[in-house]
Amino acid sequence: MPHVKPHPNVINNEPKNTSKKRHGLQNIVQLVQSVEETQDPIPTTIKGTLPTWIHGNLLRNGPGKFEFGNQHFNHWFDGMALMHCFHINDGQVTYWSRFLRSDAYKQNNEMNRIVMSEFGTLAFPDPCKNIFQRFLSHFEMKPTDNANVNFVKYKGDYYVSTETNFMHKIDPDTLETKEKVDWSKFIAINGATAHPHVDPDGTVYNMGNSYGMKGTLYNIIRVPPNKEDPDETLHGAKVLCSISPAEKNKPSYYHSFAMSENYLMFIEQPIKLDLLKILTSRMRGKSIDDCIYWDPKQETVFHVVNKHTGKVSSVKYHTKALTTFHQINAFEENGFLIVDMCCSDDGQALKIYFLQNLRKSGEELDEVFCMSEDLHDKELLDYGGFEFPHIHYDRCNTKPYRYFYGCGFGHLVGDSLIKMDLESKKLKAWHQPGLYPSEPVFVPSPNAEEEDDGVILSVVLTPMEDKGTFLLVLDAKTFEEVGRAKVSVNIPSSFHGTFNSL
Ligand SMILES: [Fe+2]
Repeated sequence: MPHVKPHPNVINNEPKNTSKKRHGLQNIVQLVQSVEETQDPIPTTIKGTLPTWIHGNLLRNGPGKFEFGNQHFNHWFDGMALMHCFHINDGQVTYWSRFLRSDAYKQNNEMNRIVMSEFGTLAFPDPCKNIFQRFLSHFEMKPTDNANVNFVKYKGDYYVSTETNFMHKIDPDTLETKEKVDWSKFIAINGATAHPHVDPDGTVYNMGNSYGMKGTLYNIIRVPPNKEDPDETLHGAKVLCSISPAEKNKPSYYHSFAMSENYLMFIEQPIKLDLLKILTSRMRGKSIDDCIYWDPKQETVFHVVNKHTGKVSSVKYHTKALTTFHQINAFEENGFLIVDMCCSDDGQALKIYFLQNLRKSGEELDEVFCMSEDLHDKELLDYGGFEFPHIHYDRCNTKPYRYFYGCGFGHLVGDSLIKMDLESKKLKAWHQPGLYPSEPVFVPSPNAEEEDDGVILSVVLTPMEDKGTFLLVLDAKTFEEVGRAKVSVNIPSSFHGTFNSL
């Protein structure tokens, strides 16, 4: 049962240009070190002036503990989920954090060693078991519930998610771990992405694989917006449609998908999961990351699904081999379906990203070869790759839009914040040597008129300064700093998050 964690490219995201913005590699170590949770809210020191209209919680999720006893996880993605909350109210910020009380966390803690396999770490059999039990344990394929990738929302409730079948419901105010939810109890899937899309009415779409008697299938999932019972979770979830992989036993890995007003786009890229290798991985003493490979000889295929009927278009849109992890936005305009995405197409599959805009009309052909358009000019190369895209989601998702935001990857992790203007293809950047900002989250100002009326929130890590982490607030229009809130604890690098307006 393959369960894969995200961003295998990000940590290998070595820019091919020699960027002016790069620094020494030794700094990175500090960004992936274990920390203690901060159970009680602590105040922060404000510099500048934070707008008083910002009222809510910036929630972040990422790995925060990388060893148990004398055993260490091999991979950044394997660290135990640490949830962070930056509570912003009346120009002040308080901070607290909690480890997700997943079964993986609890069992590892109890045994004081790693007992649950993660993406890049294979847990060894319990040395207390007899030889026969140890042999059998090699065949166990327990997916982890260490949901360290994102906060997601279903039916108004917050969950933390990775890409396995397990999520945990979370109290967004206290970060308390509540119910563990298993997708496979509701629909026949073995996992779902940590990047669902949401319609304005709260209907959520996601994708997940199934590995059953009928073979492997990619499935589009729809979860209704409303609860009939206050305690329900994914009740009413449905598989809207299923798509067969180009290669039966070698489905593609996908980290997200695109959604326009009427269509869902699944991008079948030539990053492949070798199911046979995965099934035998424990026996061979290999972790899941050993079972993924890039095949640049294969084309990338775009599958288009009607959101309302679940009908999969017979027209398949092909383009050259590329890798993509995060989609920026998708919309329909003048008979075109436009998909904006962060991707790499230079064959260095797990390395640097480029931005591309893939456009093609729905002509009645079985196969259409797509051409692409860069969404940026050469200036972006000064900042390395580009990832963690965000837009003004509530206003612009599935619609024509002008701005997107993200991190520049002049280093192995994000080391700049970028605002891209799609009209001019010019960018604005925030970059200070030695500082490592997280994914930028856009928060619109009250009574906003223009698309970029609001602020950008980002957690900035300071590996060269102990306990120097701060929440950065930028004016989204000018990309200039309006203020920062310094937190007197060390915080490791995190993946994704969201702003919960209060
Ligand atoms: Fe992601």
